[in-house]
Amino acid sequence: MNKEAAGGSSRIPGFHNWSVEQRIDRVASFAGLGPAERAQLAAPSNIDAQLAEHMVENFVTTIAIPVGIATNLRVDGRDVLVPMATEESSVIAAVGNSARQCHDTGGFTTSTSGTEMIAQVQLLDIPDPRRARLLILERQDEIAEICNACDPVLVRLGGGFRSLEVRLVDTPVGTMVITHIIVDTRDAMGANSVNTMAERLAPDLARWTGGTALLRILSNLADRRLVRARATWTCAAIGGEKVRDAMVAAYHFADNDPYRAATHNKGIMNGVSAVVLATGNDTRAVESGAHAFAAHTGRYRSLSTWEVTADGDLAGTIELPLAVGLVGGAVKIHPTARALLAIMQVATAEQLARIIAAVGLAQNFGAMKALATEGIQKGHMSLHAQNIAFAAGAAGDEVAIVSRRIIEQQTINEEAAGRVLAELRKR
Ligand code: MEV
Repeated sequence: MNKEAAGGSSRIPGFHNWSVEQRIDRVASFAGLGPAERAQLAAPSNIDAQLAEHMVENFVTTIAIPVGIATNLRVDGRDVLVPMATEESSVIAAVGNSARQCHDTGGFTTSTSGTEMIAQVQLLDIPDPRRARLLILERQDEIAEICNACDPVLVRLGGGFRSLEVRLVDTPVGTMVITHIIVDTRDAMGANSVNTMAERLAPDLARWTGGTALLRILSNLADRRLVRARATWTCAAIGGEKVRDAMVAAYHFADNDPYRAATHNKGIMNGVSAVVLATGNDTRAVESGAHAFAAHTGRYRSLSTWEVTADGDLAGTIELPLAVGLVGGAVKIHPTARALLAIMQVATAEQLARIIAAVGLAQNFGAMKALATEGIQKGHMSLHAQNIAFAAGAAGDEVAIVSRRIIEQQTINEEAAGRVLAELRKR
């Protein structure tokens, strides 16, 4: 099929009922894909097509992301190997290097605020919102019963309804009565449980208050599921006072300027999201929670802090919401996620979250140290140049030769890589 013959309607009735092969054929003919592109879509992966079909609608293929292992991490006195799924070079090496530099001072110490999630129910059209708020709060025991009846298994495992909050939110379309049901979801991320509870409860809330129930959904600002990690790097391990002080100045830049904070926190999320993805957890939930939390003071700030200790060493801390689970969803059914989780030997979702927070802090240390000293490009260069060599068509031994030459020539781009490759092949 050539590009000219491609096209047609995106309206494809019954597409979801077709076989994977039929779907690929149709997509290939729609887009005018060549045989190589079609074969790439049809290539097998380490997830069974039947399982993938259960995970998403209209499944056609998978996209593999490399997984590497971050070494050298010591979290709460235990050495752990951490799988990280990322397409970005230098991320995994940065965690390993940073963790090595604080391994001998004890590594990372973590804590959590618990595993409680919040679900929100929005009530509109209430003339007396302050009275409505109290009417709801008075029914806490009844609400607990309604919520717990939705998930007896969670209750048996020690989780379930914990508490209630009712907030009045003034908006241009009136004061809304927002009920928060707070539920301990233990080893589950908990979205399904709390969403079910919110949906079940909403008609009662509307009846009790005379309002209209609208949205019923969890909040990704999971600020009752905060995870904290801290670590200390000796001044000597960092490379002296000058580097230490430069890193502290880099932190204050991020904490006081949202333009820098966005990039600083993106670096943290390079580590966090890579572990979240490797374990089959919801990267978007964790990311939106982290960024919303970074703005909880009313200004978008750094998720980490950096300061000099009385001994002149560098102490880093991080605090962020981490709604991750060990049960439910892709975590439970994706065989690769399960195998990768097994590497970390965690028994609870809390333990997993603690490791993720430590990875976020290590990642941040690595990025800040590089930025405050030689810059980020030097460390990136080698893998980046290899990617460029690949993109230019290099294969096997050619990749190392081409990437080395373009680094030497300081021309790390595809055109230069193509030239070097052509010369190499001529010989
Ligand atoms: C790149 O993916 C991440 C960094 O930009 C983080 C940072 O600037 O702190 C290096």
